[in-house]
Amino acid sequence: MVDELFDALAEVYDWIQTFKGDIPFWINQAKRNDGPVLELGCGTGRTTWEIATAGVPIVGLDSSEAMLRVAESKRELHPDASSVILKKSKINEFELGIKFNTIIIPNRTFELAQSKEEQQQIFASCNKHLNPKGNLVLFLLGPPTGDITEGLEQLQKTVINPTTGNKCRLFVKDAYDWQNQLSTHYQRLEEIEGDGTVLREWKFPPIKYHWITAQELENLGREVNFKVVARFSDWLRRPYQEGDACMIYVYEKQ
Ligand SMILES: C[S@@+](CC[C@H](N)C(=O)[O-])C[C@H]1O[C@@H](n2cnc3c(N)ncnc32)[C@H](O)[C@@H]1O
Repeated sequence: MVDELFDALAEVYDWIQTFKGDIPFWINQAKRNDGPVLELGCGTGRTTWEIATAGVPIVGLDSSEAMLRVAESKRELHPDASSVILKKSKINEFELGIKFNTIIIPNRTFELAQSKEEQQQIFASCNKHLNPKGNLVLFLLGPPTGDITEGLEQLQKTVINPTTGNKCRLFVKDAYDWQNQLSTHYQRLEEIEGDGTVLREWKFPPIKYHWITAQELENLGREVNFKVVARFSDWLRRPYQEGDACMIYVYEKQ
């Protein structure tokens, strides 16, 4: 299911994303421990190639063929980072036969795990692939605190289609299932001409994120003998406090 979502998004992911603020954080995190990094849910390689270019060997796993194809297409742009390994695999069940000093899960990928069982499987797989004292680092959005725009479609931003040079308007809508901790994110993209005529429209399948509380994150780590060693609420490493919009968790394998 998640594969279909991201297969549909692959063509536009990089240019509707446009978000780069996290890259210095991930490079810094990757360089803190010697040795190769494993990125779970590497997608189009948005983060992967930046880390590799900074001189850190990296392996990226993803289950979406279309996202991986985009990632692979960037290889020729990064001749100094030819050791990057991109592999089609689920992130909750994998066996690479090697261990890493750092495992990263950027950009809300962990929230795509819809069940507690899947979350536990990801943590267990990370445990298997981390060296002692190695770090697992996740980025998630914190539980929503109420949203007066719930259910209303809104213009989120205007971006440029790099192939055609045309403007595109990204519309988003969110809906929340408070009981099951699920937020559903709808995205629609319109490519427009100068006079406002709509040339093309993309309606993407909705993405379901399962939000996680701070307590649940602590518990998940404890189950596999991971200790939380840092919690940040932004890329400048400001300490996380309950209610902050972003959660960056750093675990250490005991
Ligand atoms: C939001 S994108 C993040 C991509 C990239 N890490 C970034 O920072 O831009 C999430 C990616 O995780 C992948 N993904 C989600 N759940 C997965 C799973 N269970 N197994 C493998 N890949 C998964 C999706 O295919 C998608 O490419």
